[in-house]
Amino acid sequence: MIVLDQENKVFTLHTQNTTYQMKADSHRVLLHTYYGPRIGGGDLSRLIRYADRGFSPNPAEAGDDRTYSLDVLPQEYSGGGGGDFRLSAIQAELADGSQVVDLRFTGAEVRRGKYALKGLPAFFAGEEEAETLAVFLEDAVSHLRVELLYGVLEGCDLIARAVRVVNLGAEPVRLRQVASLCLDFQYAGLDLVTFDGRHAMERCPTRAPVRPGVQGVGSVRGASSHQHNPFVVLCEQDAGEDHGLCYGAMLLYSGNFKAEVERSQFDGVRLVMGIHPQHFCWTLEPGASFTAPEAALVCSPDGLGQMSRRFHRAIRAHLLRDPLEGRRKPVLINSWEAAYFGFDSEKLVRLAKEAAALGVELFVLDDGWFGERNDDRRGLGDWWVNEEKLPGGLEPLVERIRALGMEFGIWVEPEMVNEDSRLYREHPDWALVPAGRMPTRGRSQLVLDFSRAEVRDHIYEALRPVLSCPGLSYVKWDMNRSLTEVWSAALPPERQGEVYHRFVLGVYDLLERVRRDFPHLLVEGCCGGGGRFDGGMLYHTPQIWCSDNTDAVDRLRIQYGTSFCYPPCTMGAHVSKVPNEQTGRTVSLDTRGIVAMSGAFGYEMDLGELDGEEKEQVKEQTAFYMEHFELIQQGDHYRLSDPFQDGPYTAWAHVSPDGREALVCVVTGCVHAAAPFRALRLKGLDPRASYRVNGGEERWPGDVLMAAGYPLPMSMGDYRSMRLYLEAE
Ligand code: GLA
Repeated sequence: MIVLDQENKVFTLHTQNTTYQMKADSHRVLLHTYYGPRIGGGDLSRLIRYADRGFSPNPAEAGDDRTYSLDVLPQEYSGGGGGDFRLSAIQAELADGSQVVDLRFTGAEVRRGKYALKGLPAFFAGEEEAETLAVFLEDAVSHLRVELLYGVLEGCDLIARAVRVVNLGAEPVRLRQVASLCLDFQYAGLDLVTFDGRHAMERCPTRAPVRPGVQGVGSVRGASSHQHNPFVVLCEQDAGEDHGLCYGAMLLYSGNFKAEVERSQFDGVRLVMGIHPQHFCWTLEPGASFTAPEAALVCSPDGLGQMSRRFHRAIRAHLLRDPLEGRRKPVLINSWEAAYFGFDSEKLVRLAKEAAALGVELFVLDDGWFGERNDDRRGLGDWWVNEEKLPGGLEPLVERIRALGMEFGIWVEPEMVNEDSRLYREHPDWALVPAGRMPTRGRSQLVLDFSRAEVRDHIYEALRPVLSCPGLSYVKWDMNRSLTEVWSAALPPERQGEVYHRFVLGVYDLLERVRRDFPHLLVEGCCGGGGRFDGGMLYHTPQIWCSDNTDAVDRLRIQYGTSFCYPPCTMGAHVSKVPNEQTGRTVSLDTRGIVAMSGAFGYEMDLGELDGEEKEQVKEQTAFYMEHFELIQQGDHYRLSDPFQDGPYTAWAHVSPDGREALVCVVTGCVHAAAPFRALRLKGLDPRASYRVNGGEERWPGDVLMAAGYPLPMSMGDYRSMRLYLEAE
């Protein structure tokens, strides 16, 4: 619900459990007055404190009032070059070279439904499910207008935000930064949690008190990156899974981003998040507009677990455009770790046959099927089938796979080109690199200039026959290097600061075309595993290969970190062979299964190499997943322990929204002799219900399971697992 008090210029957004408020004061400065648990409302600007602070200057209109300083007040969207020395949300270079952006309120309105953004990912909602608040600010000298959009998804407790900048002046303006989100807290004492890592070890949480000055994370790699995720949390310092006030902020963007937090001299905290200003400069001609990507906020008064579950629900219902529309996703087998580049049709059919017999439903042909792609040094860009490996093209192979009762999927990497390819020989200027410079290579490949429509058109036409292949139901869309030497032959020098962003818009454009023309295809995102795991990609690819690391023990950490924002159904997770290719570790098939099952489940190995007993286990796993798909994919996710603590076990649960059904998963750590007794306290159950355990005789009351816990067996062995399926009677 949005309450618009035009007279007092107080604008209040209520979700089911939270309230957010801003107010334009007598100087038409838009102040942020409150974000937190839901409260009655009224004008909350009385919370704001004023004081004469040294070296915090006063705008002209304040006259002699030295207690009025933009440097001290909580701002809804901070300008720059005036009297606020904290992080700016917007930076611009005006026609006269000055860099002052002084934003003042000019109006506000409420719209039914949620706003949409052209060419950019955004949460969507029906007319009845959401409302939009639009607030208009303007710089009186340059006539730069800033429209702040707030999409309130009341039932999900999510507030989406976007920013549109319009040049109403007569001169061009160069935008150096347009943040998607600015969030001020005048009273603080908060921790910042970021999700950091590296290739094959993504999204490990880092938590630290917000210290004086600026701290933050970002990416200038052209993709949101393995190293830092465009999702951050600010929370009270004692907040945990089940208590404490938490704020999560996600950016729905897949390119360069920056999320910065500043603790001010008076211990206020400001979060600013958006496209990374480095390398960014966007020229806005008179009359033109620029839209910053969407950001989304969730506030949880009751801990990190509740915050995550709110994001999960909102993402599942209002961001993922899943062609299966909630129907069960097929269990897949991917050829990569089973065959790498060394295969022909016969080998692929054999892999598929073994898998089909064990209940696997979708065969995904990974890299190596096109051009001269016999290793990772050549072939990218040549999207024609390599008939030495696949005689007669894709269709005969697909027919044979389908005859096994399986669906067929294929891997592509549209944004890339190898120098050793027909495409590069014909169009060397289509790769991103300034004339006269040697390009930096990553995995022996270059990046295509997706800011150019003709490059995208060409790739799309080359991919079209593949995407049109009868029987194709799935595509894995990969991206295996970072962007460097970013420069486009199609843009003039003064517009080169637009290329990174135009590249991302180009990727979204191509993905949208695929969706428009092939709406039945389930597209999985990938970027060397989880190097582009963000809300922007999820809008186009409802699941993302979570990490190139398939080791079940490392995956406990990766999937745990990922779950702070993103629901399990979005995390591609596969059982692979042992010893694991990335870590050399050997973990039981049970444990590999339980971990992979907590995501978009599949296998990535030659199942023919398993012995009879293991094959029976795979059959049991696929059957179990199919039976409990809805609970795992749509249920509420509870993190029951933190794998980064190297404790005796890692545990989590998927619980149906009514609490009547739960799947509890436990994986032991490195065990020690004479271990203490332990019980695992469960969450989200119905306290009054009696639960049957794993379909057997054992029964436990919900309140006991939650208050006292379930006694864990002793000495299960290193990295062993246990699965408790609970059903209320
Ligand atoms: C990336 C992906 C892998 C696989 C290879 C193929 O690394 O993350 O899953 O598809 O590319 O080259």
